[in-house]
Amino acid sequence: MAVVAVMSMMGGVGKTTVVMHLGAMFAGYGVGGIGRRVLLIDFDPQAVLSHALLSDKAYLARVKADRTCLAVLQEQRPGVASANPKKGAGLMPPSVKTVAVHLGKGRHVFDLVPSTLDLINFNEQPITRQKMAVQRFQRFIAECRAQYDLIFIDCHPGRSCLSWMAVLNADHIVIPSIPEEYTALSIRPMMKFIAMLPARRRSPRVHILFNKVRQNRPSPGEAAIRETTGFRGCCMTQTLRKDNALASPHYAQRPVRAIPTSKTGRAIRKWVQVGEELGCGDSGGVE
Ligand SMILES: Nc1ncnc2c1ncn2[C@@H]1O[C@H](COP(=O)(O)OP(=O)(O)O)[C@@H](O)[C@H]1O
Ligand SMILES: [Mg+2]
Repeated sequence: MAVVAVMSMMGGVGKTTVVMHLGAMFAGYGVGGIGRRVLLIDFDPQAVLSHALLSDKAYLARVKADRTCLAVLQEQRPGVASANPKKGAGLMPPSVKTVAVHLGKGRHVFDLVPSTLDLINFNEQPITRQKMAVQRFQRFIAECRAQYDLIFIDCHPGRSCLSWMAVLNADHIVIPSIPEEYTALSIRPMMKFIAMLPARRRSPRVHILFNKVRQNRPSPGEAAIRETTGFRGCCMTQTLRKDNALASPHYAQRPVRAIPTSKTGRAIRKWVQVGEELGCGDSGGVE
């Protein structure tokens, strides 16, 4: 029942990697060996996560049928059932069952709401349409919370209406960050963005997760960020090493099949440790 938004102002820092691997880990192992019901929402118009997990054919079929996260935000086109077509149709998102794809094998099963390149136009929509989308997304997430233990949102880089929707609904925000000093320049505006949440809303817990770390001891850049006021309490103890297994172009397809093998045992333990430190998987669970 926790919503984890993975965001950053920068691209290529590991947002999609984190969503994919943490999602697969929680689905397969959860905390204490009990798998969680996991939903991944691809909220990036580049749709890297969707392409990584779906065949081109399956992906195109989803886009054609309007069964992507864009259908969650915008009024239905014919062919996509609304959860409640009678009452305020414009404000009712499709049910999660309509837009989610069931993926994986064995214990590593999870669902994905794919993205589409058309999402790129969303930020230019008139404000009234965007407001409507905010409400639809909120309702959609409420339904997802009832059906899943963990919902990961893979955001696109930058501050936008899409990112704002993710912030509004998140219990946890993970900011994957390269351990270089310049990264601070991108974390600060992200923190300001999150601080724009209205006071009546419960603030999400923010976690800065250093990724592509090259050495055991923190680099000067990482150390500087860890010491920065405002970031200090948010930096995770766990870090992710630069690892060729994660650099493969098909990295995202791997965890589903590869996680159970002994060869990848160390990698699994790492994702379990990251998940435990996040503390987002403590409720619910399926045997
Ligand atoms: N820890 C890591 N070690 C090596 N390569 C990584 C690591 N994390 C991510 N990558 C690679 O970096 C690239 C960008 O990662 P990605 O998750 O797509 O970033 P983002 O979603 O932030 O744009 C991908 O090619 C991915 O395989
Ligand atoms: Mg990405």
